[in-house]
Amino acid sequence: METCGTSCGKAAYSFLFEYDTPRIVLIRSRKVGLMNRLVQLAILGYVIGWVFVWQKGYQETDSVVSSVTTKVKGVAVTNTSQLGLRIWDVADYVIPPQGENSVFIMTNVIITLNQTQGRCPELPDKTTRCQSDADCEEGYSGIHSNGVQTGRCVVYNPAEPANKTKTCEVFAWCPVEDDEKVPQPAFLKGAENFTLLVKNNIWYPKFNFTKRNILPNISKMYLKNCTYHAVTDSFCPIFRLGDMVEAARNNFQEMAVEGGVMGLQIKWNCDLDKPASRCVPKYTFRRIDNKDSAHTVSPGYNFRFAKYYKNADGEDSRTLIKAYGIRFDIMVFGKAGKFNIIPTMINIGSGLALFGVATVLCDIIVLYCMKKKYYYREKKYKYVEDY
Ligand SMILES: *[C@@H]1O[C@H](CO)[C@@H](O)[C@H](O)[C@H]1NC(C)=O
Repeated sequence: METCGTSCGKAAYSFLFEYDTPRIVLIRSRKVGLMNRLVQLAILGYVIGWVFVWQKGYQETDSVVSSVTTKVKGVAVTNTSQLGLRIWDVADYVIPPQGENSVFIMTNVIITLNQTQGRCPELPDKTTRCQSDADCEEGYSGIHSNGVQTGRCVVYNPAEPANKTKTCEVFAWCPVEDDEKVPQPAFLKGAENFTLLVKNNIWYPKFNFTKRNILPNISKMYLKNCTYHAVTDSFCPIFRLGDMVEAARNNFQEMAVEGGVMGLQIKWNCDLDKPASRCVPKYTFRRIDNKDSAHTVSPGYNFRFAKYYKNADGEDSRTLIKAYGIRFDIMVFGKAGKFNIIPTMINIGSGLALFGVATVLCDIIVLYCMKKKYYYREKKYKYVEDY
């Protein structure tokens, strides 16, 4: 006790030899009484209005499991000097033919025909232009090279004698691809009118509830002829590509040139306490790749692939295709809720506990903030000596 001092001693004494028990003090004050009821009313409003009615706190929730399949329809005609009159159908412009939750539709293309392995001049640019063989290094290949340099300096375009540009020769697939200029307008501008059929099955495992986006009341006839429209045909699962891009506030023909990525969002928010027919999909569209970058560095979406064959001389040949296009990513999300006693009880319990907040708040105001606080304190605490 000597090391601790008298205050420490007092604390130990009261800890051991005093007992406190709450008693009820009824304060007859309009101000305090009204305040208490107002706070309680606010809490009641929050619990009933927000937690139960709006957030459906009486429901158990589950998130969606889904599968998506797609089918594209439409043909486009092109007429160019390189390819002549050509028709493009689904097998030509959907790459790969089927995928997972996404579909790529080629809208623009740079085709390099009849490439074979051999030696040919590189595309002219800062690093490949040359005056003589001394400017070219045998065996060199840069990141942007089409092949490996042979060490010779040759005329780039012998087809145009006026053009005297010389570039380093490379061992590569020849002739090398010239992708300087992206075709404009887009090669397959008719893609605007192609349609995309989306079949989406969903499952809420907790409630064993399944549904698909082709609703039971949709007839075969209707499905053959409809296209999605936000107001008039909001449940038709067939989407015109041009409409989707437009709904995302973009211009299809502009997007078709360099390509891009579009998101088709399907939202299934279902209240399973209501009839199953009220559980319907809601479609929204947005452009996912950053549109602001469209006019700056590396815009759009493209990739290359080739078709291989043997030419008349038995030589390995290929057609190189640089495809620009729009990838449609189909994203399904949603939540279903159904009445369950456990979340209901938890929310009622926590709502009741919240009423304690009203008491704490009023106590603080009465004992610390009001003018008559000393009077109230005197009334609230009563000290009783040992008998
Ligand atoms: C799409 O179809 C409409 C109506 O059939 C036609 O007027 C329009 O030219 C087509 N768009 C393109 C880019 O071919």
